[in-house]
Amino acid sequence: MAAIVLIGAQWGDEGKGKATDLLGEKLQWVVRYQGGNNAGHTVVLPNGETFALHLIPSGILTPGVNNVIGNGVVVDPGVLLTELSGLEDRDVDTTGLMISADAHLLMPYHVAIDKVTERFLGNKKIGTTGRGIGPCYQDKIARVGVRAADVLDEKIFAQKVEAALELKNQILVKIYNRRALEPAQVVDEVLTQAEGFKHRIANTQLLLNEALERGETVLLEGSQGTLLDVDHGTYPYVTSSNPTAGGAAVGSGIGPNKITTVLGILKAYTTRVGSGPFPTELFDEWGEYLAKTGGEVGVTTGRARRCGWFDAVIARYATRINGITDYFLTKLDVLSSLDRVPICVAYEVDGERVDEMPMTQTGFHHAKPVYEYMPGWWEDISQCKTFDDLPKTAQDYVLRLEELSGAHISCIGVGPGRDQTIVRRAII
Ligand code: IMP
Repeated sequence: MAAIVLIGAQWGDEGKGKATDLLGEKLQWVVRYQGGNNAGHTVVLPNGETFALHLIPSGILTPGVNNVIGNGVVVDPGVLLTELSGLEDRDVDTTGLMISADAHLLMPYHVAIDKVTERFLGNKKIGTTGRGIGPCYQDKIARVGVRAADVLDEKIFAQKVEAALELKNQILVKIYNRRALEPAQVVDEVLTQAEGFKHRIANTQLLLNEALERGETVLLEGSQGTLLDVDHGTYPYVTSSNPTAGGAAVGSGIGPNKITTVLGILKAYTTRVGSGPFPTELFDEWGEYLAKTGGEVGVTTGRARRCGWFDAVIARYATRINGITDYFLTKLDVLSSLDRVPICVAYEVDGERVDEMPMTQTGFHHAKPVYEYMPGWWEDISQCKTFDDLPKTAQDYVLRLEELSGAHISCIGVGPGRDQTIVRRAII
């Protein structure tokens, strides 16, 4: 029995899709446990085919794997159907995809409210993906949400949507000066969409626990990252769920004692999308270099990602908050052709050295990176198969990140392809 949690150790976009795909053949189940279609996981198959997934677990690309959209996920029905048909058009077998009966449905009014709220906030905006994620989770916590199982009882579903829209329409019309949404139209639209996924709704919590009892291997696939966690991230510039390892148990319905491995995904440098503090952010030609060489454009929104050097303070924090047992270091190849590679080892906050995440929001906004420099390498490392194949200076960089982060770097990505990974220690 093994339940492995895979989480982003930075601000998302660390390359989680590649890691899931690497493990794919050894897994029986892949589960998304939080977030929604704010995520974007890119997987490149050996034949060069590229898939961008937003809502559906990356395991869908490995034949024979069962895929679950867990209870902690918020599901936009329209996006789900589009993603399913996009996969089916490319001959991907989607029959093994299940949706937890308890997953919340992301409704058209959530998207509308996300967009108008951001506009209202002006330069204080979060920089959300505009997909309605925050408003949907707000409804879940306020106990006025609509769950997947509700579409199985049309009368209840209509009652819930009507009740929710009574308040939402007041907000849209009276506060934001927008048009009200017609309840009957929303009910009709979503129930029509539900015809395309009703048969996938299941008691996935039960199925997963039974699978673990049978000794099968389950991967709990996080989206976003530790620093975007609503509790442990750079609040308020965060997403509205718990991408951290603790969220995996809640968002899938398995006990925390079933989790055997916590695999953190760590990019060899740092990126962030949206607003919020980012101490190692670069505004010079090196920032442009990382963005261009690393192809740092959001999979979901197409927004340019902010880029900066590796930040060991947040990596150390991620190791502790998640209980990370292993790291998958991605995109090491992007750093080839630097004379020296900076690593942020601490911050300077208002003239004082700080080795941990600052406690206050202001402290984090004022944090300036304290760098140490490692010798770089110029060789193309994209074909390296073992750790020993890497230039000595690249090996030293990895070993230093390992030491600073406090967890073993077990896999190293040296290119986007499925086979461009160095495995130092097998995860499964
Ligand atoms: P939301 O999740 O759309 O509410 O956006 C909240 C914050 O999380 C914004 O800064 C987004 O840019 C960021 N965010 C959400 N999903 C992702 C992701 O998959 N990768 C990186 N950033 C994300």
